[in-house]
Amino acid sequence: MSYIDIIKSRRSIYDLNDQLPISEKVVINTIKHVIVESPTAFNMQSSHLVVLMNDDHSKLWQIVTDTLKKEVAEDKFASTQAKMDMFSKAKGTILFFDDRHVIDQLKKDFPLYKDQFDMFADHSMGLLQGNIWNALAELKIGASLQHYNPLIDDEVKKQWNVPEYYHLTAQMVFGGIGSIPEPKEKLDADERVIVYSNV
Ligand SMILES: Cc1cc2nc3c(=O)[nH]c(=O)nc-3n(C[C@H](O)[C@H](O)[C@H](O)COP(=O)(O)O)c2cc1C
Repeated sequence: MSYIDIIKSRRSIYDLNDQLPISEKVVINTIKHVIVESPTAFNMQSSHLVVLMNDDHSKLWQIVTDTLKKEVAEDKFASTQAKMDMFSKAKGTILFFDDRHVIDQLKKDFPLYKDQFDMFADHSMGLLQGNIWNALAELKIGASLQHYNPLIDDEVKKQWNVPEYYHLTAQMVFGGIGSIPEPKEKLDADERVIVYSNV
């Protein structure tokens, strides 16, 4: 597949199951390659991952469910529960964390850029998430990006021994693809890209 074909095949896929088309080992190695090769501002490498599969994946979605139960009105919870069950049916979830110590140290080391480092960390995190999402798509593994942080942060850190100074930024659910959603409406590229060239 060309790079463009790979990024075209990346979608937010919610209908996932626990049957991966390749081994768990290949998935983990791919994720490790991606984190090493993804660029970060100042080469800060502040992003860290916790990959949960099988029972740990189910445990995460039980934590999210229990947390949301305290937040969502009882008569509106059925649709939330359906969503939780849908995520739980997948194979795994990647938790994305920023190491706040690394970011705070850089603010001290480079005071000229101190107001930029949170943004740099966010951009680096976005690149990592995008690269992993695309790499999974190339392996024909479906995924969607979720944000139940900060509601679940404390429970997650306690359950998987994550340092307190790690900041949870997203959860990427992944698994075998049940069905691919309908295409989404996209603006024409010419509305978003302006080119100046003297050629
Ligand atoms: C930074 C970012 C945050 C997102 N957050 C969520 C989210 O919390 N929940 C969700 O279901 N989808 C989330 N999405 C998915 C977008 O809604 C989706 O990528 C977009 O509508 C385009 O659809 P596609 O991914 O199928 O191409 C997020 C996407 C991005 C890039």
